[in-house]
Amino acid sequence: MIDQSKLPLREEFFECEDHRCVAEAIKMMKIRGAPAIGVAAAFGIVLGVRNSSAGISSELIREIEVISEILSKTRPTAVNLFWAIERMKKVALDSRNLGVEELKSLLEREAISIAREDAETCRKMGAHGSTLIADGDNILTHCNAGALATTEYGTALGVIRAAHEQGKKIHVYADETRPLLQGARLTTWELMKEGIPVTLITDSMAGFLMSHGKVDKVLVGADRIASNGDTANKVGTYTLAVLARENKIPFYVVAPMSTIDFNISSGEEVVIEERNSKEVTRICGKKVAPEAVPVFNPAFDVTPNRYITAIVTERGIARGPYAESLRSLSSRQETGGKS
Ligand code: MRU
Repeated sequence: MIDQSKLPLREEFFECEDHRCVAEAIKMMKIRGAPAIGVAAAFGIVLGVRNSSAGISSELIREIEVISEILSKTRPTAVNLFWAIERMKKVALDSRNLGVEELKSLLEREAISIAREDAETCRKMGAHGSTLIADGDNILTHCNAGALATTEYGTALGVIRAAHEQGKKIHVYADETRPLLQGARLTTWELMKEGIPVTLITDSMAGFLMSHGKVDKVLVGADRIASNGDTANKVGTYTLAVLARENKIPFYVVAPMSTIDFNISSGEEVVIEERNSKEVTRICGKKVAPEAVPVFNPAFDVTPNRYITAIVTERGIARGPYAESLRSLSSRQETGGKS
């Protein structure tokens, strides 16, 4: 895996031999982004069972429970993590009659499918979402919802990539995204590699740009979408959504169906991760505030559905009321790029 915590200064790769290493990498945000941590957790289970000396399947399944518990304790907000772990556990339970070695290969195949499907899903979201993008658009994005945050291609950045591939002349404003600077470090790095014009701004500049007519659309990813469309994403997303409404700018969320949590009815039920105060008192490890200052560091916020113009998924584009449109997408067959 590429170590996202070192980018863009160093392009370093690390290897994991067991699930503990994967869990630590997710916790330390070497691997980050909702779909990417789901895929990583699936492979974490594969590594965990590979190292197991269980002689019978029931024993292996008990070990999978323990491995899953460790992986699911890493980050609480992005539902894709739990979705992927549940999917792996279901495969194991449904095939508990198989021998241990067969079960291990079945789990490996499932993790590979999760990764492949994620890549396909991103391209489908790109096809759907790019219909919303016009030639000449200036698009504001927050955090990193790109190839790094998925298997490849990205969610919000997947839509931007697709529009660019179609020859639309677009320009992106990337919010730096304090405290961990995913926008400054990762989104700009990805877009520049791709040759997509990008301008970096600090988070507090978004309102100025919007009120001066410099932003045509806002595109963001998501970590968990409640069944009513309320969307948890990187802290600061809610601020952008309110600013976008004030300035009559469409605000789009781009996320796979696996990010929709039909078990919760509103954003109030989302658990918001709080991270270490040092992420706020330091920038890239350098102290910028008195060490002893009290800090509040929620990693995500919830944007109420009323601020969201549309939610782009691999199955099409949902518009409000989301309780109905998301439910109908979940029971619909996938369409290849038409919404
Ligand atoms: O804390 P992070 O960097 O994992 O947060 C990531 C985000 O908020 C992304 O916008 C979200 O996971 C969507 S990624 C396709």
